[in-house]
Amino acid sequence: MPRILVPIEVAFGEARVAATPETVKKLVSIGFKVSIEKGAGVSAGFSDCSYSDAGADFFSEENGDSLQEFDLILCVNAPSNEFLLKLKNGTLLIGLLGPYGNQELAKSLEMARLSALSLELLPRISRAQSADALSSQANIAGYKAVLLGANALDRFFPMLMTAAGTVQPAKVVVLGAGVAGLQAIATAKRLGAVVSVSDIRQAVKEQVESLGARFIEPPHLEDESSGKGVYAKEVSEAFLQAQRKQLTEQLSEADVAICTAQVPGKKAPRLIDEEMLDKMRPGSVVVDLAVSQGGNCSGTKLGEMVVRKGVKLIGASDLPCSVPNHASSLYARNLFALISPLMTKGEFVLNTEDELIDGALISKEGEIRHAQVINSGAF
Ligand code: NAI
Repeated sequence: MPRILVPIEVAFGEARVAATPETVKKLVSIGFKVSIEKGAGVSAGFSDCSYSDAGADFFSEENGDSLQEFDLILCVNAPSNEFLLKLKNGTLLIGLLGPYGNQELAKSLEMARLSALSLELLPRISRAQSADALSSQANIAGYKAVLLGANALDRFFPMLMTAAGTVQPAKVVVLGAGVAGLQAIATAKRLGAVVSVSDIRQAVKEQVESLGARFIEPPHLEDESSGKGVYAKEVSEAFLQAQRKQLTEQLSEADVAICTAQVPGKKAPRLIDEEMLDKMRPGSVVVDLAVSQGGNCSGTKLGEMVVRKGVKLIGASDLPCSVPNHASSLYARNLFALISPLMTKGEFVLNTEDELIDGALISKEGEIRHAQVINSGAF
């Protein structure tokens, strides 16, 4: 019977867990034996008791249990190197492993001869949607970014007609209309704001408009073909300059800017510079979700709110952790959707011919095999 371990997440500020009582029950029903470290679900609102009721048992190194017993480790972030080096050869690690440029992880995978599926690399095809952890977590980030922006703003979001006169609705500019951006648009609209949106992929125009927002057409530069596929391509500095020029006016009138523009595996495009910030209204707010990739906005700092000439700059990268119960529920379902098809008649088979597995498997028994990750300098 293949054995799964769900360890406590040790990354600073992490409140999510990779399995919930709901998914433990399902994993047990298809033939896995599931162990969980005591307390692993507590910060996400899942008690130890709820896991044992669902069929899990508890793992404790202190009580003499060994990490060599497990075939799969389900995690949110990559565990410590010390932890990885104690696993048996061939154990499969599944999580948001942060593989780009991650030399320490690479070394541990090689040394302990581990296999690893990194959910950031799951191909974005229809069949993968139920396992797409980037999307489930980005959805939460987009929602929470708007709440943070609304909370920090010195104005209302909705239009109000009061005895003291009419209050105009807040103007929100969303930069990047991927999963987070689309949820930010929907949330800002629900709160009553007027929303404008910039994205370099023409394909999102229809989605943006169907949410009731205005799409800002990207600048037309002859040498750019930035937005035909699912993923955005990195655009040139000339393109970004033209885009910043175009956004200056929108931002000078905005109350809140929500920055979600990213290009997978690359530095985030700089869409708001110092000059643009100078023109923003004191009291307005920028929430930058791209801050850990270098930021869409100049001057945002990871995990901090900086006030610059009255404009509040919020650098937010860990928003899914601030909604840990739902974030964990969705993430755990993503993991179940990924691994359940690999279980046949009680046997777990890592089928590398499956497009999803092939796309996300960064190492097989210690052998590093993913071109995108190798090229990022980690291996
Ligand atoms: P992301 O987080 O990589 O990027 C966010 C957004 O930023 C993208 O829409 C991108 O076009 C935009 N962007 C990049 N450079 C920009 C610039 N200079 N100015 C303005 N915007 C810029 O994207 P995410 O959220 O991961 O989704 C990417 C696409 O993949 C979306 O269309 C999404 O619907 C699609 N998708 C498909 C899935 C599937 O079929 N399984 C699952 C999830 C997403």
